[in-house]
Amino acid sequence: MRLSDETRRGLRSRTKLVHSGRDPSEQFGFINTPIYRGSTVLYPDTESLMKRDARFSYGTAGTPTIRNLEEAWSELSGAATTALAPSGLAAIALALFTAAAAGDHVLVCDSVYRPTRNFADGLLRKLGVEIEYYDPVIGAGIERLMRRNTKVVFLEAPGSHSFEMQDVPAIAEIAHRAGACVIMDNTWATPIFFPPHERGVDLAVEAGTKYLSGHSDLLLGLVSANAAWAKARCATPSR
Ligand SMILES: Cc1ncc(COP(=O)(O)O)c(C=O)c1O
Repeated sequence: MRLSDETRRGLRSRTKLVHSGRDPSEQFGFINTPIYRGSTVLYPDTESLMKRDARFSYGTAGTPTIRNLEEAWSELSGAATTALAPSGLAAIALALFTAAAAGDHVLVCDSVYRPTRNFADGLLRKLGVEIEYYDPVIGAGIERLMRRNTKVVFLEAPGSHSFEMQDVPAIAEIAHRAGACVIMDNTWATPIFFPPHERGVDLAVEAGTKYLSGHSDLLLGLVSANAAWAKARCATPSR
């Protein structure tokens, strides 16, 4: 049986880890969601096809397996919604493409995971996004770097390799005042040790490839969003 939303909100992380994203009543009592594989989904009739209100419409738009993991991650992260990506770097790209466009200025912490830097310096610059790196211990001093066209502040704390911690709430407050989106790579801490959305992060990225899967045998990325960014979309055609 599915627990009510209210009951779920009061649960501790350990209990959430056991219950989240699972609905045995929908799968003959079996605890874990089976792996659904497929592309086309059949509608019962033309009317329901025209209404487009089915829970599942096509494999690339989600399956019960994907949806349940997204739900579990949203619960653990305190997010309004979550989208999965094929890898951590793909999740970083998804978040940045969602919030930045040509002509925007993007602030990225200097301690960022190297492939994120390569993506920003390569593809984002090529698409007309201006990238500037900031000292990860800058805290509220980030105000000096904000410009009229600053649309994203990208944090990673602790930062890859050098492990600086950042004053996330202070940076988020200043970014929000300037109308910028706060994206954070939260891979190292995970939402168990750092609740990103409670601290002001709009889009939190997790390389599920790391601690979340834990056995070096899969690639996975997750982007969780707070309510303000839950409806934002990357510029891809929706189904
Ligand atoms: C902090 C951090 N972010 C992102 C990634 C990227 O994850 P993936 O290897 O799934 O692309 C990694 C992987 O090492 C990482 O350590």
